[in-house]
Amino acid sequence: MASAVFVGAIDFDYGDALSKSLLYFEAQRSGRLPYNQRVTWRDHSGLTDGLEQGVDLVGGYYDAGDHVKFGLPMAFTVTMLSWGVIEYGRDIESADEMDHALEAIKWGTDYFIKAHTTPNVLWAEVGDGDTDHYCWQRPEDMTTSRQAYKVDQDNPGSDIAGETAAAMAAASIVFRRSNPHYSHLLLHHAQQLFEFGDRYRGRYDESVAEVKSYYGSVSGYEDELLWAALWLHKATDDEYYLEYAISNANLMGGVGWAMNEFSWDVKYAGVQIMASQLLMEGKHGDDQRGVLEQYRRKAEHYLCSCLGKNNGSNVERSPGGLLFIRKWNNMQYVTSAAFLLMVYSDALRGMNRELRCPGGTVSPAEMLAFAKSQVDYILGSNPRNMSYLVGFGSVFPRMMHHRGASIVSYREYKGFIGCTQGYDDWYSSEDPNPNVVVGALVGGPDSRDAFVDDRGNYMQTEACTYNTAPLVGVFAKLWHLQNPSFDVLNKEKSALLASYKK
Ligand SMILES: *[C@@H]1O[C@H](CO)[C@@H](O)[C@H](O)[C@H]1NC(C)=O
Ligand SMILES: *[C@@H]1O[C@H](CO)[C@@H](O)[C@H](O)[C@H]1NC(C)=O
Repeated sequence: MASAVFVGAIDFDYGDALSKSLLYFEAQRSGRLPYNQRVTWRDHSGLTDGLEQGVDLVGGYYDAGDHVKFGLPMAFTVTMLSWGVIEYGRDIESADEMDHALEAIKWGTDYFIKAHTTPNVLWAEVGDGDTDHYCWQRPEDMTTSRQAYKVDQDNPGSDIAGETAAAMAAASIVFRRSNPHYSHLLLHHAQQLFEFGDRYRGRYDESVAEVKSYYGSVSGYEDELLWAALWLHKATDDEYYLEYAISNANLMGGVGWAMNEFSWDVKYAGVQIMASQLLMEGKHGDDQRGVLEQYRRKAEHYLCSCLGKNNGSNVERSPGGLLFIRKWNNMQYVTSAAFLLMVYSDALRGMNRELRCPGGTVSPAEMLAFAKSQVDYILGSNPRNMSYLVGFGSVFPRMMHHRGASIVSYREYKGFIGCTQGYDDWYSSEDPNPNVVVGALVGGPDSRDAFVDDRGNYMQTEACTYNTAPLVGVFAKLWHLQNPSFDVLNKEKSALLASYKK
């Protein structure tokens, strides 16, 4: 298997990429940084978040190059990190990166626990984009509004409640063995959040107007409710949640929407792939099979579309071979596609099956090879010979659109840098960023593989946590294919043998 994918291809150091991808989440931390913080150009920030509202909202992640804490993309980031650990945990463990992966997830889930103050209240955002964007400051200097916004039963937000439920349910699976108490707590929150989101229906951007121009929920909340139900089913095996996804499949668009993208906003492809996994695992009743097959047809539409094997609607590709959805932060769609292709290829291989597309059948090995081609493009196998993963290789973006990265580190200069001073002295500087946000994946090139490394070019040079999140599992799997003898099971066996010899 490994050889089929690797023969004749350019190989990158996926282990290095994996380690770097997990460092990125430390650079994006908000709150009080722990003693073992490895990204040392950062320091504490946002220590009074929530104070005005009388709630402790310290912690969590800045999602991109500014300092608003947006709950919806943060939750999606944590769901994808958790899914990566669930699918590729053994690979991550073999690469000795499990502790870092768990820390990255827990930094998010600790925050969600704080933000979910009562069963029907979820704090959805801290800070607001408009005032934040007037300033170019380090997070450690922040002087912008830290107003917090919530959803509750009178101001519902089924999308953010659903995604946060999905994140906590997925993370509860991740922590089941290593931290059963924490896992149980996460599951409890997830179940309450799902019930809240399901019972009090509404889009969160109608309750929290401040998110609208940044993370408005274009696809509505029905995809998140289905997604949360399937994650809760995976975490609990409770039939109620599966039946929810079956009986609402039509009504909520789960088997209606044929998608070409999977993102923090649009979850249908993820829902459809998870439903297909249930079908393949035989985890369903006879009466549920028909609906799960409808889900699978839509899942396969998505995959065939990425593979260029649909009749008609395929995802566009750049001349260099990169999947292209849209010019603003296109890389997010590339990494989520690589993840779903890899997961589905593993599921098909387990069943000894192939993917049947209108344009021909595709073997699991071919699907994996295509996912790898997208990852390799990201790491430097592209017309510009540039790694879009910051800090990887020798050629990568130096002018990432990121406030903290572009200003001298707080550890080096503790003097205050004001809101407009940051724009004057740092944003407009022609110099490369003084701090390298290792492991960040920038928005990336356009449909012609062109990329302008300019701080003002935020469509291409800004990175987001949900760009990198799906890559963690993907890098781990590719690393393991490259290094099959490094296996955690072998490692345990040799440790055992060594202990006998003593
Ligand atoms: C592809 O689409 C065209 C035009 O709609 C149709 O004529 C043709 O039969 C389709 N081919 C397949 C294999 O579905
Ligand atoms: C990228 O690398 C290839 C192979 O080494 C070389 O032929 C090509 O000119 C390089 N392209 C750029 C833009 O540097």
